Amino acid sequence: METRNKGKRIIRAAIIGSGPAGFYTAEHLLKQTDFEFEADMFDRLPTPHGLVRSGVAPDHQKIKSVTKVYDKIASSPRFRFFGLVEFGRHITLEDLKRHYHVVIFATGAQTDRKLGIPGEDLKGNHTATEFVAWYNGHPDYRHMKFDLSGEKAAVIGVGNVAIDVARILCRTVDELRKTDIADYALEALGKSRVRDVYLLGRRGPLQAAFTNPEVRELGKLTGAHPVTLPHEVGYDEFIIEAVETNKDQTAINKIEILRSYSDPRHHTKNKRLHIRFLVSPVEIIGDAGGHVAALKLAKNELYRAEDGSVRSRPTGEFEELEAGIVFRSIGYQGVPLPGVPFHEKWGVIENEKGRVTDPGTGGHMKGLYAAGWIKRGPTGVIGTNKQDAGETVGCIIEDVRSGAVIEPPEPDPDSVLRLVSGAQPDYVTYEDWLGIDHIEIERGKASGRPRVKFTSVEEILEALKSRKKAANSPDQT
Ligand SMILES: Cc1cc2nc3c(=O)[nH]c(=O)nc-3n(C[C@H](O)[C@H](O)[C@H](O)COP(=O)(O)OP(=O)(O)OC[C@H]3O[C@@H](n4cnc5c(N)ncnc54)[C@H](O)[C@@H]3O)c2cc1C
Ligand SMILES: NC(=O)c1ccc[n+]([C@@H]2O[C@H](COP(=O)([O-])OP(=O)(O)OC[C@H]3O[C@@H](n4cnc5c(N)ncnc54)[C@H](OP(=O)(O)O)[C@@H]3O)[C@@H](O)[C@H]2O)c1
Repeated sequence: METRNKGKRIIRAAIIGSGPAGFYTAEHLLKQTDFEFEADMFDRLPTPHGLVRSGVAPDHQKIKSVTKVYDKIASSPRFRFFGLVEFGRHITLEDLKRHYHVVIFATGAQTDRKLGIPGEDLKGNHTATEFVAWYNGHPDYRHMKFDLSGEKAAVIGVGNVAIDVARILCRTVDELRKTDIADYALEALGKSRVRDVYLLGRRGPLQAAFTNPEVRELGKLTGAHPVTLPHEVGYDEFIIEAVETNKDQTAINKIEILRSYSDPRHHTKNKRLHIRFLVSPVEIIGDAGGHVAALKLAKNELYRAEDGSVRSRPTGEFEELEAGIVFRSIGYQGVPLPGVPFHEKWGVIENEKGRVTDPGTGGHMKGLYAAGWIKRGPTGVIGTNKQDAGETVGCIIEDVRSGAVIEPPEPDPDSVLRLVSGAQPDYVTYEDWLGIDHIEIERGKASGRPRVKFTSVEEILEALKSRKKAANSPDQT
């Protein structure tokens, strides 16, 4: 391995994906002192930051400010960003093996899980993945249409993503106008006629995947109040065990919040956000025009399975819930990458603590690693990915020490520039991104918003062209 600085071995790393997992991986690598890591990060989008830009809800701006940390990581002279460069399309595994000692896949979970019930192909049945990406201005989803002309909407699942979707449907246009929600989404949601939003959990309140701050926030919306049904948030044996025997404070708070939402004295606003439990959709019912009209729900009861987990099973009773639009929010799902072993059932890259493994031999695929949601599945908050990336980088360091990484024939950083420019002449650097970031924020200032997002690749490339032209114009010299 060659040395360029201070006599330290230089290790060149390619990171695929610029979400939290990609950035925390870069951070861990760049701070190593025994070796000098150089990190090149690639993303299929022209903008970095993965779900922080296209997933985290627009009314949660404080959370989005984590990107300042990523900007700092990107300011290292040993870091480069190549936006609009897709692994599997513009660059392949063979390309990367020619230029890098290690390749880390941090591509997240790009699609969603299916329910597998009749009626899923009806118009008006959507995934939370699509809706979230649409309202956040993800270029692949900006053309989607959501029919919000009905008064009732259902969201299947009771995780934090389901809460985001329901909350955005319930926000007033004045609340949304203060966010960086995509302009077209602001307009469409401004015309929404939705008045009742139903969150549907298949298990009980204690088992709901949402977290307390998120469910508490629902009680503070300007134009909507949360509603629970007293009999669905009553004390069952599992709640009694958690609250009275285990004195589990998180559980106590959760149940208290949910029970308070059943008090009719708090039901005072225009829109209602119903949180239902112990119901499973078994069919999406359509109208004569092939559009969603209702959900057939099976009522459930809880039981303790042999492995100790609390599960739901149908009681044999059903109910019908009217809904003009349905969003499935039952979890994201990773997609396979060409040449990289994939566990179809779990939707993750085959790996052991981040080392990509060959399912045939069980052995490590030299120099290949995974981090974040594509490594461990679609759970965990932004911070979870820091620790997770640390584990992967720990494996990388061990392998560098033992010589179990790739020996690339062309490790020169300029050779990557030639490769990328050939495959994607319009690639976007981090400096370009900072320019786009600046323009978006400036556009927002005029209307008192945190930013006005560019939502198409063409717009971004055009803005970059104008910026470069302006910088090169004689007036600037
Ligand atoms: C709707 C939603 C809201 C959330 N809100 C919060 C929140 O409020 N607070 C919180 O702490 N956590 C939140 N999370 C969780 C958090 O976003 C995740 O933990 C985190 O984003 C996972 O990081 P990641 O890097 O693994 O994946 P991602 O953030 O998805 O990043 C993956 C990146 O890889 C890129 N990519 C994919 N395929 C390729 C390819 N072939 N070539 C090149 N690039 C590729 C993608 O474009 C993307 O930029 C939310 C998650 C969702 C889904
Ligand atoms: N504000 C935040 O901090 C924030 C915001 C958004 C997302 N996130 C994080 O991002 C991660 C992903 O969130 P998520 O909401 O997509 O996933 P999640 O937390 O795993 O929740 C998925 C939900 O879908 C339900 N579900 C799964 N299969 C189902 C089926 N067949 N029928 C009915 N319901 C089904 C689950 O119920 P069961 O429990 O019964 O399986 C659960 O309620 C989480 O870690 C979350 O905390 C955080």
